Amino acid sequence: MPIEILQTHKLLKTCEEALGERYTVYKLHEAADRDALIHEVKGNVRAIAGGHVDAALMDALPKLEIIANFGVGYDTIDTAAAKARNIRVTNTPNVLNDAVAELTIGLMIALARQIPQADRFVREGKWLKGQYPLLRELNGKTVGIVGLGRIGKEIATRAQALRMRVVYHGRHKQADEPFVYYDKLVDMARDADWLVIIAPGGKATEKIVGREVLEALGPEGFLVNMARGTLIDEAAMVEMLQDGHLGGAALDVFEKEPQVPEALFGLDNVVLSPHQGSATHQTRNKMGAMLVDNLDAHFRGDPLLSPVV
Ligand code: 8YV
Repeated sequence: MPIEILQTHKLLKTCEEALGERYTVYKLHEAADRDALIHEVKGNVRAIAGGHVDAALMDALPKLEIIANFGVGYDTIDTAAAKARNIRVTNTPNVLNDAVAELTIGLMIALARQIPQADRFVREGKWLKGQYPLLRELNGKTVGIVGLGRIGKEIATRAQALRMRVVYHGRHKQADEPFVYYDKLVDMARDADWLVIIAPGGKATEKIVGREVLEALGPEGFLVNMARGTLIDEAAMVEMLQDGHLGGAALDVFEKEPQVPEALFGLDNVVLSPHQGSATHQTRNKMGAMLVDNLDAHFRGDPLLSPVV
């Protein structure tokens, strides 16, 4: 009898196929009646593939041994509850570092040089009536990275290639890193031209980029969020972008995505992206394979590839 698992949201085709070859998969996101499905399968489900798992769902599945998240960020899983119940949790780190770092740099250049706006300018025939305004460059500027983890370091390397000065803020100073460390985010924001957010989501980082930090970054400062919408006080950010107290923002993530504050749509100092950091075939296939490999390792009794609990 194949092992029975519960899938909580849509996954990549290749990942769903691989799961289907190995396991009996119940798709919670496709169930007309979620509670009825859980009730029906609760005696046999030993794993969850995907995120959005709270303590109640764990309690509803008494045989649950492991939750394999699709994504490096696992803020939609109650890891404390999992730990307390001896349920393992895995994520998909490293395989997405390059994709996220590439998009970060792409959005920075897009924001500084107003690439989407300039594209519209040409399409709308405005070039025939005059030149597009002069803008700014990245070289020679200071970028402050909030969260110098695996992805943060890839962003730092690429920013250096653009001849930017890199500084960082995080919970700890990293002795092996050559960049200047700030223990206070507000101080880094004051000294930096760019602030790039790439720290984990969750309670510990909720709204760490608040009004005070945004004011310190200031009217000449640019904000880039590649992490989670929860890290920023979104309402304050929108207001400051509107009134010019913050220079600009490139945003890949939002507090209530896919809902995006409509006030941002009319602003020219903003570049918007629909949570595309890891969204390439190359990377998403690797993430899907890693999710499956973690489940396989668990049921073989081998060490997990990327345990977080
Ligand atoms: C998402 C991400 O997981 O890895 C993360 O933490 O934010 C993304 O790669 C992806 O959107 C999954 O749907």
